[in-house]
Amino acid sequence: MAIALESVPRHIAIVMDGNGRWASKRFLPRIAGHRQGVEVLKRVVRACGVRGVSVLTVFAFSSENWKRPVDEVSALMDILVVALSRELNQLKKEGVQLRFIGSREGLSERVKQSLKDAELATAENHSLTLNVCFNYGGRWDIVNAAQALSASGEAITEESLARRLSTFVTGDPDLIVRTGGEMRLSNFVLWQSAYSELFFSEVLWPDFDETTLDAAIQAYASRERRFGMTSAQLPGARNEAT
Ligand code: IPE
Ligand code: IPE
Ligand code: MG
Repeated sequence: MAIALESVPRHIAIVMDGNGRWASKRFLPRIAGHRQGVEVLKRVVRACGVRGVSVLTVFAFSSENWKRPVDEVSALMDILVVALSRELNQLKKEGVQLRFIGSREGLSERVKQSLKDAELATAENHSLTLNVCFNYGGRWDIVNAAQALSASGEAITEESLARRLSTFVTGDPDLIVRTGGEMRLSNFVLWQSAYSELFFSEVLWPDFDETTLDAAIQAYASRERRFGMTSAQLPGARNEAT
């Protein structure tokens, strides 16, 4: 499906949901779904690069996911460390810059080290930025920014607060995709989603592929982003439409 380059979102964010259900449907342990999810993410990173997306932000582990059974949490930590060490060279080759967004509190030294190493190894890459939200919550992000702002003594404005959010350098997502059929944000990019286009898919994350990605991009391309204005005020609009 050919989509004009100017209609491709600059920044896509994805809530990669449905791994557990994908595995349960196959009588596999939930962790098998998480493992397959990593394979899909690799493909999606590549597909986004090919389509001209500059930033991909993915929700990999939420502040609330600590409430899961301890075995699942520790398996998720392991999957992250193993995937990073296995995929780092390829990501470097593909020009992907990795950034981990979220609190480092509660993470083991081993996990923290592997996040640091991956960020350092890919810091000079510029073809696509991959923000991995890990131990991330939108409320954490806002509180963190508010604390930093208060400590700085700077006046509280939308701009001064936004500047201290974890995603500031990569900007707000243009399109947020959630797989797995739930229609909620689950504490993902709460501030940054103010004007994002939303796309919900029934597809479980381990089944996600280029077809669903293109469906999301196509839906995005057909939306009119008015940011509070009228259609007639938008660039390229014909004035008689007022
Ligand atoms: C998303 O898949 C991955 C994480 C939250 C870590 P889930 O594990 O939430 O899968 P479902 O929603 O139970 O199917
Ligand atoms: C959101 O999925 C978090 C991630 C995908 C990492 P959840 O499965 O944790 O969300 P809820 O619990 O259904 O809202
Ligand atoms: Mg879920």
